[in-house]
Amino acid sequence: MSLGPARDPAFRPVAGRASYLILHNTSEIVTPDPEGKTIVRHRRGALVFRDGRVLEVGPGPDLLRRHGEARPLNAHGRLVTPGLVDCHTHMIFAGHRADELQRKLRGESYATIAARGGGIRSTVAATTETDEDTLEKSLATRLERWRANGCTTVEVKSGYGLMPAAETRLLELMWGAAQRVPVRMHRTALLLHALPEEYRERRDEYRLAMGGSVLTDARQRQLASAVDAYCDPVAFRVDECRALLSRARELGFDVKLHADQLERSGGAMLAAELGALSADHLESSTAEDWRALGRAGVVGVLLPGAALTLGQRLPGAAMLRASGARWAIATDFNPGTSPAQSLLECAALASRLCGFSAEETLLAITWNAARALRVETEVGHLNPGAWGDAVVWECETLEELPYWLPAVRPDTVFMRGADLALPTVERRVWP
Ligand code: NIG
Ligand code: FE
Repeated sequence: MSLGPARDPAFRPVAGRASYLILHNTSEIVTPDPEGKTIVRHRRGALVFRDGRVLEVGPGPDLLRRHGEARPLNAHGRLVTPGLVDCHTHMIFAGHRADELQRKLRGESYATIAARGGGIRSTVAATTETDEDTLEKSLATRLERWRANGCTTVEVKSGYGLMPAAETRLLELMWGAAQRVPVRMHRTALLLHALPEEYRERRDEYRLAMGGSVLTDARQRQLASAVDAYCDPVAFRVDECRALLSRARELGFDVKLHADQLERSGGAMLAAELGALSADHLESSTAEDWRALGRAGVVGVLLPGAALTLGQRLPGAAMLRASGARWAIATDFNPGTSPAQSLLECAALASRLCGFSAEETLLAITWNAARALRVETEVGHLNPGAWGDAVVWECETLEELPYWLPAVRPDTVFMRGADLALPTVERRVWP
């Protein structure tokens, strides 16, 4: 299999006049500023795309006058935002674990269910039994659903293979799926997720295999741009995660960490020590942990779907603001702890549970989430030079985004300045 560059799935360039568009008659265009500090609101604004990128954003009448050659597109008085960024998903897997939710609701804990043969290992078994074509198509179908929901950039983690060769296979299938759907996909190798049965008595050997040939092969073939590990008493220790992620960084990967989910076990502090791109979960982290993330410039990623499913609390807005850290919100889409298929709905929940303003909520699913993938110069905002990834929403104001439940639907999704006909979630791209 010949694999292309990790960061740039094939998009067809848009030729001729179609590549010069002006989106006008908006209620407002809202975007983070280039540094991701504030949200700028262009009331009755217009947006000009040229050759796939944002050329200009500003007052509608002025831009319409100056870009008379551009093809006009009428937003019919609707809200426009950057394409959303889901910076944490586990969307390559087979089967589901709906039965486990019922067990949790009857009082069984996540750890107990896992110890009795459920949990991550049951999804690993289902995924291992599923053929490659089915896995790749199901991932592509999920990516379509995300785009239909307004996400133009999506991170996907491996992690339901566990065995060294199985993790590599998932990374290859992730690359294949990215070729089928016009979404920006970022691939993360989640290499310490759970210890497979085959290595039950050989824990160190497992870590060395994942940190050895699996990592170097993934680097050589550009199968992933980041490496992740699950740092938790039910998964891997701080020293095990440190060893893997330090090696990953030496090889040139970005690093991420599932940190302090079920217990405060040093994950956030390790992410700060390593200068990780993000520390994710953090349900059990303290204000001190958040301050450490802030000092180290690590994005804290909140995952309300998982917190709700496991009955955990999310941190409050006042503490987060005081910490100096940036925070993002993501779905954590996975069959066990977060079967959440809409980023905007997760954001609407986090906004209520944490007390975020509409502007903070938008920042958490655009610029800050892009920062958690190191692509904040290119996506997550609509300033000149950014990719022309934008959404026209079926609503008029920014405040409606965290308000409606179920979440507001996109009217139109633009990728690289091109209006992609919105598919229904049922649509398949294959015969
Ligand atoms: O992010 N925390 C570890 N991994 C996933 C859950 C995996 C599962 O239960 O299948 C998470 O919540
Ligand atoms: Fe996760």
